[in-house]
Amino acid sequence: MKNKVTVISHPLIQHKLTLMRKAETSTAKFRTLLKEISLLLAYEVTRDLPLKTETIKTPLATMEAPVLAPDKKLVIVSILRAGQGILDGMLELMPSARVGHIGLYRDPKTLIAIEYYFKVPHDVDKRDMLVVDPMLATGNSAAAAVTRLKLTNPVSLKFVCLLAAPEGIEHFHEQHPDVPIYTAAIDQQLDEHGYIVPGLGDAGDRLFGTR
Ligand code: URA
Repeated sequence: MKNKVTVISHPLIQHKLTLMRKAETSTAKFRTLLKEISLLLAYEVTRDLPLKTETIKTPLATMEAPVLAPDKKLVIVSILRAGQGILDGMLELMPSARVGHIGLYRDPKTLIAIEYYFKVPHDVDKRDMLVVDPMLATGNSAAAAVTRLKLTNPVSLKFVCLLAAPEGIEHFHEQHPDVPIYTAAIDQQLDEHGYIVPGLGDAGDRLFGTR
């Protein structure tokens, strides 16, 4: 499982991602699309959740029916602030998941990630962790977030984004070869400001209308 990158190329995701990329897409539409895509990403990322069976009665018969194994619990950690966009969609599909937040900002000169906020549930060491951030650009924030989160000893850890740059994937996996990446697309490259090209611009600004 080392250095694993899964590109989730479902046609619905690809279509919605194209709409998100368009410069003319409004904030409201961008937000809705990210939520919709996140539902679909969550579907793929949770594909390996274990099941057990329980005995239930349908109106016609008794059966052994599959349910999620009760000891498998999830925590979704949003990298502030754009991670909120993915978190919202995922919570719609998995309303019982616990939530953590980590706040990092990129120093505009060095592009290095600096932590300013950290809060996760107390039982995170009994949970599988999904770390979410739409853009894996330089990989600095993602790698720094995962380094910090590993100190909390989650049962497992996956990184989920919308778009990744090859440089970001490489940098992230240099530091965390054990953490699989799930993304909807891998773009060409980073520009000199650390933006993904062609990308979709600043995900936080587009999500919250702050530009
Ligand atoms: N963060 C963004 O929001 N967009 C990029 O292209 C890179 C980092």
